[in-house]
Amino acid sequence: MKQIKIAPSVLSADFSKMGEEVKCVTDCGADVIHLDVMDGVFVKNITFGPKLIKDVRKFSNAIFDAHLMIVEPWKYIEKFAESGADIITVHKEACGDRLKDTLKAIKSLGVKCGAVINPDTPVSSVADVIEECDMLLLMSVFPGFGGQKFIESVLPKLEEASRLIEKTGKEIDLEIDGGINKENIVAVKNAGANVIVAGNTVFKETDRAKIIKELREM
Ligand code: DX5
Ligand code: ZN
Repeated sequence: MKQIKIAPSVLSADFSKMGEEVKCVTDCGADVIHLDVMDGVFVKNITFGPKLIKDVRKFSNAIFDAHLMIVEPWKYIEKFAESGADIITVHKEACGDRLKDTLKAIKSLGVKCGAVINPDTPVSSVADVIEECDMLLLMSVFPGFGGQKFIESVLPKLEEASRLIEKTGKEIDLEIDGGINKENIVAVKNAGANVIVAGNTVFKETDRAKIIKELREM
């Protein structure tokens, strides 16, 4: 069994005190800090870049997972690697035929890498790059905003992704991102996800240690 890792998404944090927010969820038991980078082009929202990640890095020793929702991500991976991100994930929809090269470029910078697919992109589209990946991320909402409703049709995709990972015989994490809450977390775990992103579900709570523990143990 792969280790379950809970990954609060800072998209739902108070951006005016990002360092404290990241420290808080780390102290409350988060394994991973999920950092949503948006450029206003790949998605209809704008968040932050490598400078913020670099500045909050000193508030936490958790794994920093930079989810790049940007076009031409290869132009910026060096900056994100330098920022202190432990893993950088890039979208199939943003990279197209350059996905494999981009994943290799991330690794060459000494950082882990992962491929991401949107809800309407098939798992088969990343079959040729799975061997390069430390993690595969399946979106269970269309990226851009926190607090959206979980798209149920991702469940069979998770099972398919799980089988694809198993076939490699490698330790590749399977991450799920979007609309995760106490009602659907058991289903995504049963379908094979082991890195669980939760933005709204964690940050809306005042007792974040309790919710992180619940999400881990359910
Ligand atoms: C969506 C982001 C997600 C999002 C998750 O574009 O990639 O990481 O912030 O937030 P919740 O858990 O609120 O859907
Ligand atoms: Zn994300």
